[in-house]
Amino acid sequence: MADINPGEGLHYLDNAATTFPKPATVLQAAVHFCATACVNPGRSTFDLAMEAETMLDDCRASLSNFFGGSDPNRLVFGYNATDALNLAIFGTLRNGGHVVSTQLEHNSVLRPIAHCEDEFGAKATWLPFDSKGYIDPDDVSKAIQKDTKLVVVNHASNVIGTVQPVAEIGAVCREAGVTFLVDAAQSAGVIPIDMKSMNIDMVAFTGHKSLMGPMGIGGLCVADHVDIAHTRAGGTGVKSAVRRHLDEYPFRLEYGTPNMMGVAGLFSGVAFIADRGGVAKIHADEMKLAKVLWKALRETEGVTLYCAESLDSRTPVFSFNFDGTDPAQAGTRLDVDYNVACRTGLHCAPLVHEAIGTAPGGAVRFSVGPLTTLADVEAGAEAIQSLAAELRG
Ligand SMILES: Cc1ncc(COP(=O)(O)O)c(C=O)c1O
Repeated sequence: MADINPGEGLHYLDNAATTFPKPATVLQAAVHFCATACVNPGRSTFDLAMEAETMLDDCRASLSNFFGGSDPNRLVFGYNATDALNLAIFGTLRNGGHVVSTQLEHNSVLRPIAHCEDEFGAKATWLPFDSKGYIDPDDVSKAIQKDTKLVVVNHASNVIGTVQPVAEIGAVCREAGVTFLVDAAQSAGVIPIDMKSMNIDMVAFTGHKSLMGPMGIGGLCVADHVDIAHTRAGGTGVKSAVRRHLDEYPFRLEYGTPNMMGVAGLFSGVAFIADRGGVAKIHADEMKLAKVLWKALRETEGVTLYCAESLDSRTPVFSFNFDGTDPAQAGTRLDVDYNVACRTGLHCAPLVHEAIGTAPGGAVRFSVGPLTTLADVEAGAEAIQSLAAELRG
């Protein structure tokens, strides 16, 4: 592992897509588990299966605690945030009903809701964000109708980095008796989440971003008072004679053999966050580095930065364009000429780009992660200045 030199010379500023590199401890934990105990958890009577089950349950408890969940068994594992959002959205809207969501959403919310509209007669209200990139909780309150079953909000935008007031929105939902689902793909590990005090009913998370785990592991944390209908069924490893999928958690929302190597890595990712001083400290450190990029993006002539007037209430994710230049071409230049990795296009969030006026080409996105260095952001800032100067002619 020590011989591996990830992306040598590359300044990786695409952490909103996935954090890279991963901590060595995470890689070691995943490989160690795979080498020593990668058997089906708890489904047999031998000791090693019990050991695997213990690791799975310990990770469940650790993440449930991390999100302020009430019962570790209601923290269920799946592939990623997309998988968890599908479970939550289809499981809530499968008989139709009204859903309130926002124009900030990722396709992993937009598309499941579109399918629920087309296939189950659900109706959606998409709330706009203001010119700074925030949703007004009063708009959520006004949009709730008699048959509203669900409110879904993107906690931190993967395009413009704004962090939504989920505690205020949670209070509105609780008052109205509507289930509140938070897409925490971009916030888990970098913005604190407490389901109890924020009145959040379901948190969908992915392991491979700021939770620092491997790809292919994520999940849903569900509050005690919420029940999601079955939308899949299959093996649970227990009570095999029962005809239908089990109702009790965690089996209710887990299907088949879990990604145990992913769970082992994710468990270690959560420990990495604690070792680094916790979520708030990681966020503060990332924002310090992000400021270097932010200043360059704001101050460079010929660059337009979207919804980033201040560094408050945001993650270190910035979308921008070089005036008059196609973002995809700019991204290629940043990689080829400056060794800076970024993400261009619509970032799976077409409504955000429509709202900020960057559709259909989208924008260039820079994003910082826990293992980003000062050299990375300085290289990004220099690349912005140098490329903008060249493009200005
Ligand atoms: C806001 C948001 N939601 C959901 C997702 C989906 O995450 P995953 O691809 O891990 O399922 C992403 C991924 O970029 C995201 O940024």
